Amino acid sequence: MGAVVFAAKVSHVPSIWLSEHSPDHRGIRDAAIASLRELGRRARACGADTFVVFDVHWIVTIGFHLNGNPRHAGSYTSHELPHFIENLDYAYRGHPALSEAIAARANDAGLKTRDHRTPGLGLEYATLIPMHHMNPEASCAVLPVACNVNASIDESFRFGACVREAIEASDARVAVLASGSLSHQFWENEHAEAGLDAISSEFNRQVDLRVLELWQTGRHTEFLAMLPDYATRCRGEAGMADTAMLFGLLGGADYRGRGELVGEYFPSSGTGQCNVEFSLAGAPR
Ligand SMILES: [Fe+2]
Repeated sequence: MGAVVFAAKVSHVPSIWLSEHSPDHRGIRDAAIASLRELGRRARACGADTFVVFDVHWIVTIGFHLNGNPRHAGSYTSHELPHFIENLDYAYRGHPALSEAIAARANDAGLKTRDHRTPGLGLEYATLIPMHHMNPEASCAVLPVACNVNASIDESFRFGACVREAIEASDARVAVLASGSLSHQFWENEHAEAGLDAISSEFNRQVDLRVLELWQTGRHTEFLAMLPDYATRCRGEAGMADTAMLFGLLGGADYRGRGELVGEYFPSSGTGQCNVEFSLAGAPR
């Protein structure tokens, strides 16, 4: 039987790529890179053979979507920030069978879901940046999942539960990642360069820190109660659909595990970032 063997909320900020490839910014995200590498090591140590990634940069507006291509390969340059990420070469195995199984389970639950075999459907950087460091040998398959910006938190939550059910009925051992920001308020353009390493709002920073405290102390009922407001007021990336799907997968209010902050909370271009592993010991079976 398959299993979710690892779960985490991870950062994918483009300044991570800048940190490695821009002489003017060399090393600025060394700590975040170390956290991603450690989380990748832990996932593989748990026996993961596949990464399922809830990707807030694969934004969809109607239905739920999975990239079930058997192979993902290309060279990625960001349209949003081409001066941050360019020529990121990638090649990973996909997992068509698991993609099909998740889509079938979600459709059975009434969530309109499509499983794609489309060679032109490339990967986005919320998958690529974490995979670059967490799956450096490309030893694990990669299955990207889109975030629907028009789905309610509850709908994304229910989709996450379906992902877990499908994984458990498969033969895959899966590390599930919610790849997205905490608060996500960019600086106004004229302050963007100066604000590369700073949060844009003290209010957002304080709320982010409170959220991390709730996760670390297992107060998930309180977190879930605030999630819709948090996503709106702190400008959640893709409506925090990644986080909603992750908590749906973990069991929601029945989840008794805790988050472990790996590395430090850090700001990037105004946003709040973290890398957090969620214990699966407290996930309902
Ligand atoms: Fe992002």
